[in-house]
Amino acid sequence: MRKPLVAGNWKMNGSRESVSALLNGLNSGIAQTGGEELTGKVDIAVFPPSIYVQQVADVLASSTISWGLQNICAEEKGAFTGEVSVSMAQDFSCTMVLAGHSERRSLFGEVDADVAVKVERAGKAGLIPVLCVGETLEEREADKTMEVVSRQVKAVLNHVDAAALEKLVIAYEPVWAIGTGLTATPEQAQEVHASIRQLLVEHDADMATRTRILYGGSVKGSNAAEIFAGPDVDGGLVGGASLSVQDFLSICRAAD
Ligand code: PGA
Repeated sequence: MRKPLVAGNWKMNGSRESVSALLNGLNSGIAQTGGEELTGKVDIAVFPPSIYVQQVADVLASSTISWGLQNICAEEKGAFTGEVSVSMAQDFSCTMVLAGHSERRSLFGEVDADVAVKVERAGKAGLIPVLCVGETLEEREADKTMEVVSRQVKAVLNHVDAAALEKLVIAYEPVWAIGTGLTATPEQAQEVHASIRQLLVEHDADMATRTRILYGGSVKGSNAAEIFAGPDVDGGLVGGASLSVQDFLSICRAAD
């Protein structure tokens, strides 16, 4: 059985004050409502902007919530101004990193080959790489959803060896649903998730069974349960709604 994962991608939002309020709210919200019961059934993680990682690590040190970075550098260390490495993430007890979020791909020019190297670096270091994939509206309308998603997934499977993919998580995030208020229907999500699972089966059957495939794109408290009901939907990657304690916790509970 795959344990569901609900992860909050805070993107470039927050301040020391709001980070503190959000984390304390999550901790006390989880404690109040049978915390251990919830975190025993659902893994919960947050992805703050990297400058707040120390603060997150301090507040969450004794909680069951994990944390990670939204992006890492494909290089190990050295003259890469503005970048943050995998070993730096580990230095602050990050256990996860996002790789290939659609905003990184579309706004910062990341291509499949870059994303594959990032997944490899994170996986080799023992972190959980969360590989983000998804089609644009134009691609969906041209019936190219699986062509695009399959290319994005295969770029990683074909580049990274099995050991580094041990903990891989895939997040299917249709670009047209991110931050738009539009969501894939539960049927659309399940259909793509099942196709991704099939790609994994063709690569490595054990891996296909254990790899969690999350849905992302305007997940809210009100739609999470029906989306998560799909047999191949193992939780969610949540942007906007992860900035609200109530919304995020209700999404976590929906994954239970
Ligand atoms: P959203 O973002 O929930 O605000 O649509 C999801 C994401 O980008 O991971």
